[in-house]
Amino acid sequence: MSNATEILGTFQEHPAEPVASEAALEVSSTDMLQHWRRVSLSSDFLAKYYSFYFPYREKAKGRISREAAENSISFVLNELIENTAKYSNTPDTAVRVRVRLLERTIQLEVSNAVSVELADGFQASMREVLGGNTEELYLSKLEANLGEARRDSGLGFLTLINDYQVGLGFKFEKTGADICRITVQANMNCEEA
Ligand SMILES: Nc1ncnc2c1ncn2[C@@H]1O[C@H](COP(=O)(O)OP(=O)(O)OP(=O)(O)O)[C@@H](O)[C@H]1O
Ligand SMILES: [Mg+2]
Repeated sequence: MSNATEILGTFQEHPAEPVASEAALEVSSTDMLQHWRRVSLSSDFLAKYYSFYFPYREKAKGRISREAAENSISFVLNELIENTAKYSNTPDTAVRVRVRLLERTIQLEVSNAVSVELADGFQASMREVLGGNTEELYLSKLEANLGEARRDSGLGFLTLINDYQVGLGFKFEKTGADICRITVQANMNCEEA
């Protein structure tokens, strides 16, 4: 990392639309590693919580349905939180999760601390993801992973972009000699396509 703070992709420091609701949760990466179910439990809780903001079945036009909102929030958050549990590698094990419901957007954010070396590698691979053809990248990573049950297959973010039309942003903040706090932001449209 050359600067104290670096931003990649579309990262909204302040919400660009009015905030209808905001909720946050702080957990620990070691707790999640101890019991992996805590990852899906946290994502499912926030997904269910926010699903009530969405119309049951087709009642209101222009919004995605309650079921679609719950499924998408749960899937995207699960990917983001899973990464914080897998990759946090410093004594600072705090994982912060925040959901913001904006007028037309669901904003999902997680933050965790990693070593500067890991942050550098992450930054490089996200530059590749943000600057490349995500469908081609997905296929080439899928091919490279064939037959291997890898922990770091590199398909998570690509799936969010390709299948959930998520806009991704990343903030890297150097908080110590060898510690970097990473914030990953996923913006998802909550209007009907
Ligand atoms: N929260 C994070 N902290 C540090 N590094 C991260 C974080 N999230 C992702 N990374 C890095 O970015 C890479 C890509 O993440 P992504 O979720 O796309 O794939 P993956 O976790 O490797 O595999 P999959 O999600 O398919 O199981 C990871 O391999 C890891 O190196
Ligand atoms: Mg992942």
